[in-house]
Amino acid sequence: MEDGEFSMELDMAVRVVHLACALCRRVQEGLVSADNAQVMTKDDDSPVTIADWSVQATVSWILSEYFGSKNVSIVAEEDVQTLSKPDSRTLLSAVVKTVNECLAEAQRYGLQCPPSELGTSEILEAISRCNSTGGPTGRHWVLDPVDGTLGFVRGDQYAVALALIENGEVVLGVLGCPNYPLKKECFDYHYKAATPKSSQPCSDTFEKGCVIYARRSYGGAWMRPLVHGDEKLEWPNSASLVRVSSIDDPALATFCEPVEKRNSNHSFTAGLAHSVGLRKQPLRVYSMVKYAAIARGDAEIFMKFARTGYREKIWDHAAGVIIVEAAGGVVTDAGGRPLDFSRGIYLEGLDRGIIVCSGPILHEKIIGAVYASWDSSSL
Ligand SMILES: *[C@@H]1O[C@H](CO)[C@@H](O)[C@H](O)[C@H]1NC(C)=O
Ligand SMILES: *[C@@H]1O[C@H](CO)[C@@H](O)[C@H](O)[C@H]1NC(C)=O
Ligand SMILES: *[C@@H]1O[C@H](CO)[C@@H](O)[C@H](O)[C@H]1NC(C)=O
Repeated sequence: MEDGEFSMELDMAVRVVHLACALCRRVQEGLVSADNAQVMTKDDDSPVTIADWSVQATVSWILSEYFGSKNVSIVAEEDVQTLSKPDSRTLLSAVVKTVNECLAEAQRYGLQCPPSELGTSEILEAISRCNSTGGPTGRHWVLDPVDGTLGFVRGDQYAVALALIENGEVVLGVLGCPNYPLKKECFDYHYKAATPKSSQPCSDTFEKGCVIYARRSYGGAWMRPLVHGDEKLEWPNSASLVRVSSIDDPALATFCEPVEKRNSNHSFTAGLAHSVGLRKQPLRVYSMVKYAAIARGDAEIFMKFARTGYREKIWDHAAGVIIVEAAGGVVTDAGGRPLDFSRGIYLEGLDRGIIVCSGPILHEKIIGAVYASWDSSSL
């Protein structure tokens, strides 16, 4: 990694997200091969809850060790209340075990292990330290420990997202996508079913899992495969530049959107898609992997129109936005304005929805369509 503004912070963030992805994979494998049953049943959401809290504790512990616990501000999704309740004891002990197993591997990622296993109180403290509310001044780390909980539970797409905001502006972002295929053909295969099944280009063992990252004024967005087996993270070895797609004809463009209707109005986006001449079926993908898909050039458009009154949170977007912009894309609200990360944990002032495009031509068309269709809609 070359020197420069935030290079040390980016280095830490990339390592810690790799470690967090390894943690999630381990918990997810436990879910799939559920022989270590008691907490890991498929019908409750405890596995994802364990992963959520464990990632938050791990990231918080590492950042605090490194930057000083008094001097690190972390904004993150989970609060400690539920976990501290008496009936959460089983959950809490699973979190303590998961965090310690994960930290024992930290050296493989070039990170520091604790001198001895962390106790329950240290882990609760690491989680509760992530109570910052961000704001317009100072440095704030922003973490979504497991974005896309349904995707996680279903063995589908999910992401670990970490970003750093300084004086209201995102200065670096790292997205870990443990189930994202490394090859575009495999993503296409899974989501677009464009390839005939008989040719089987992407078996169950196809290579998947990557970390994508960008830093302000560094030049481009970069991707690195997750490490496998006993491999050590040699970083930035094996990183490659990613770039948005050059397609700007709507007829050839692919758009993605949230899977769940309650996160975005599918009939509204279908109307927009039709009016700008998008022909393909939307790809419905869980989590911030949608931002990764735009940055990697696997799709051209991502639209999201949540129901009235829903407030978007900064941790669901910060890392994705800087990565897509660094890869050459455009991200705004539906009024064409940049997202504002300076106003606390919510994207206050967001105009209707979020539009992410591979380039200005598609972006302009969609913004135009939003204006044209707004009167006739009661979103
Ligand atoms: C605290 O962090 C700031 C950057 O946000 C840094 O400039 C300062 O040196 C740090 N202070 C300590 C005591 O580590
Ligand atoms: C966050 O929690 C710490 C204790 O872990 C406390 O000292 C601090 O005041 C809290 N900050 C906010 C903004 O609630
Ligand atoms: C979704 O958008 C359509 C317009 O395309 C609107 O009629 C409908 O009420 C919206 N649904 C919700 C839940 O906001």
